[in-house]
Amino acid sequence: MEKIVILTGAGISAESGLGTFRDEGGLWAQHRIEDVATPEGFARNPALVHAFYNARRVQAAKAKPNDAHIALARLQRDWPGEVVIVTQNVDSLHEAGGAENVVHMHGLLAGALCASCGHRWTSPPEMAVAEPCPACAAPTARPDVVWFGEMPYYMDAIYDHLAGAAFFASIGTSGQVYPAAAFVHEARLSGAQTIELNLDPSDGASVFDQVILGPATETVPRWVDGLLGSH
Ligand code: APR
Repeated sequence: MEKIVILTGAGISAESGLGTFRDEGGLWAQHRIEDVATPEGFARNPALVHAFYNARRVQAAKAKPNDAHIALARLQRDWPGEVVIVTQNVDSLHEAGGAENVVHMHGLLAGALCASCGHRWTSPPEMAVAEPCPACAAPTARPDVVWFGEMPYYMDAIYDHLAGAAFFASIGTSGQVYPAAAFVHEARLSGAQTIELNLDPSDGASVFDQVILGPATETVPRWVDGLLGSH
């Protein structure tokens, strides 16, 4: 049965109240990437980086999944083939909306990582500077989030999914950050039908077979209904 691979970005969580990065007034208009989303920034000023992620973690914990997250979970349940959600988002709203099989390529706000020994654990709501690692006690805990200049997680598995995709959908991402922005090319190489569902056309919109513009809470449920109705 045909496999569906879905890539999501900050736009799918926008209507849950979580800020996107590059929209008007987005997170990268409020903070410098090099200060809060790079290993160098963390080494230079861990308190600033923890404050940035603590605020997002507290906000994300209060956010509710929206109709787009819920529709993708319904697609996973009702589609006869595999539906894999690869997300660039570090919130857990896909899971909160009932999705399984979610691949967090940029890590998770809810995760903590020890920069010394690599141990991972569930992050406290607010992580303190020099939080001791539960495994090695070193004061080097960091958010388990992939920063610029670091390798995204699960890339081998993601390319395997893309190689077997019959459908590839990109939802709520500006298509400006690689390697995620190139997934549509991988999907096309495997003969997948490709669709973009976004508020505005992304940088890669012209590559997709189909582009549906509008807010995700409207376009995603309608797209899912169409797919399920056709099978
Ligand atoms: N419905 C659908 N799409 C939306 C909505 C909405 N309600 N609101 C915004 N969008 C779209 C915007 O048009 C934009 O194309 O979501 C996209 C958000 O783009 P970005 O802010 O660049 O977020 P994203 O593409 O997820 O960024 C990718 O960049 O900074 C890094 O690691 C960070 O994971 C992030 C990566």
